[in-house]
Amino acid sequence: MTETTHARLLIIGPPGAGKGTQASRIAERFQVPAISTGDIFRANIKGGTPLGQQVQAIIAEGELVPDSLTNEIVADRLEQADAAAGFLLDGYPRTVDQVHALDAMLAPKNAALDAVILLEADVDAVVARLLKRAELEGRADDTEEVIRHRQEIYADQTAPLIELFSERGILVSVDGLGTVEEVAARIAEGLDAKLSSRVGS
Ligand code: AP5
Repeated sequence: MTETTHARLLIIGPPGAGKGTQASRIAERFQVPAISTGDIFRANIKGGTPLGQQVQAIIAEGELVPDSLTNEIVADRLEQADAAAGFLLDGYPRTVDQVHALDAMLAPKNAALDAVILLEADVDAVVARLLKRAELEGRADDTEEVIRHRQEIYADQTAPLIELFSERGILVSVDGLGTVEEVAARIAEGLDAKLSSRVGS
């Protein structure tokens, strides 16, 4: 395993692909904070903050929070000291506008993304996972109707980013099916290959 730390990473994939589950492991290995926009929104909803009140209905319906608001939150978070040398973004960017906003956040720091992990999983498998989570955790957006809508939004707004990251040569595609450990091992292998090839290039 390559001893690379402090990389700037993203993890993307359809709702239920396992992004959050894998993010903490990757972040620990690279010694960077895992920053999930979904977690930030849910913490604000739970805390009853003005932001939480603003986004609660949007999230419950499975819609995307407006780009301007989401970009502002991520820009603030990336200014915090723990993200100076690297980070793992989970659930952001999700639209082309958000990609451009992130590029603009990193440009003044002469920074760029090192790798984007794409967790691939078919719709039926991820819907089944999220329905199971609904039984256990009761997340407001885990009803079958909203789960299906989130999948449609992913296909429409977020999936087009895959081509964009592929063109930049930073995409690491990983099969998201199998046990958590199997997926984690594939991610580690894929990142090692991608990051070592960049160092050597
Ligand atoms: P967000 O929190 O990002 O949700 P999501 O993308 O829908 O993803 P999930 O958290 O449902 O799934 P995941 O891929 O992280 O999988 P997980 O590890 O949890 O966003 C929620 C909402 O916030 C959005 O709909 C939107 O409204 C808003 N939002 C967030 N970011 C935004 C942005 N950038 N712009 C605009 N709006 C934004 O796993 C899922 C389940 O599967 C768990 O129960 C887990 O235990 C299980 N599981 C995981 N891996 C495996 C495995 N290998 N085998 C079996 N089960 C597994």
